[in-house]
Amino acid sequence: MNPRTFTRRRRAVPALGLLLAAAVHGGIAQGTRRAEPIEPLPEAVTDVDPARARLGEKLFADTRLSGDGKVSCQSCHLPDAGRADPRRHSVGAFGKLRELNSPTLLNVRYNTSGLNWTGRTKDLDAQIAGSVGNADTMAHDWGQVVRLLADDAAMAAEFRAVYGGDAPVTQKNAADAIVSFEKSLVTPSRFDDWLRGDERALSPQEKAGYAKFKEHGCIGCHAGINVGGNSFMKFGLFGDYFGDRARKGRGAMVDVDKGRLLVTKKEEDLQVFRVAPLRNVALTAPYFHDGAVETLDEAILLMGRHQLGREIPADDRQSIEAFLRSLTGKQLEKR
Ligand code: HEC
Ligand code: HEC
Repeated sequence: MNPRTFTRRRRAVPALGLLLAAAVHGGIAQGTRRAEPIEPLPEAVTDVDPARARLGEKLFADTRLSGDGKVSCQSCHLPDAGRADPRRHSVGAFGKLRELNSPTLLNVRYNTSGLNWTGRTKDLDAQIAGSVGNADTMAHDWGQVVRLLADDAAMAAEFRAVYGGDAPVTQKNAADAIVSFEKSLVTPSRFDDWLRGDERALSPQEKAGYAKFKEHGCIGCHAGINVGGNSFMKFGLFGDYFGDRARKGRGAMVDVDKGRLLVTKKEEDLQVFRVAPLRNVALTAPYFHDGAVETLDEAILLMGRHQLGREIPADDRQSIEAFLRSLTGKQLEKR
């Protein structure tokens, strides 16, 4: 993944975006849809059973899923923090400290390059199957979780109402409910309204910021329906991100900084990460897999420096930040 392959990709991506947009135009005759390399989110989720999602939301917040009975999924994917974790590093069951910042689960179903910072998990079904037993998060096992939930008469009744049958509390149903909940987390934004042709949905500064996001080349990596989440790239194509981090006193290199190499065992995947999806990024500080950066302004500055080899001026950073804030789901915007 050297800068040269990257340059080739940058040219290819907007062209692909145009193709996709053209395909959409052809398919569903929507004359006003803009031809942009970011596709709009649907306004509503129609393929998830709301009753399953509601049960899943309860399980997601249930500390019985963890070995010490103190941690739920929600402990690290907080509703008030864009379903990410405001702590730099998440703390799992039995106080186990992780060296990763937890990513947002909003629109997670659209991360087509696999899940987690390295794309190591195929999809939501695989994630939930592994997560309860993961020593770094829940440190429990599904067999015990199912027994605890089944012994709770009220919980068993809820499972029966949703899934039916004599023994409705099963790992399969619990996992299905949680995945249904995760799939329901879709957050259409004002930017999506603009993509669909509503000129007034964005302020002049937000539109200017989107133009700068394209001009500077951010769009070469952060594109598609989730503004990322669909490709991998080395973190630190230019300069020395990890060395600079250590010099700022924000931590020396650790194992997780090796990125996708840990998954593929290929040298070329050293420090390669999934291009982070940027929807709701205004809500999900701190930033990057290491949670080392607290403000969006610094994240934009460092992306310019390390991914594009350019110093983005303060004015441009401000408008890019305004654009990124317009990616916050309408129902989550506090205005
Ligand atoms: C201790 C904190 C913690 C807990 C508890 C936790 N997570 Fe996470 N979650 C993380 C971190 C950190 C990552 C990123 C891991 C990585 O990249 O290897 C993550 C990643 C994910 C992802 C992938 C997101 C993406 O963008 O690819 C999903 C899905 C997820 N968690 C769901 C869950 C569910 C469901 C539970 C409960 C069973 C749970 N998490 C419990 C911290 C946590
Ligand atoms: C060469 C590909 C590439 C380019 C170009 C690029 N990024 Fe990124 N971006 C990434 C990768 C990879 C990550 C994940 C890095 C990590 O955390 O390990 C990321 C992460 C981010 C994050 C942090 C998201 C989070 O949830 O922590 C922000 C914000 C961001 N990029 C904004 C931008 C902006 C703004 C630009 C243009 C100035 C840009 N990026 C250009 C690849 C790129």
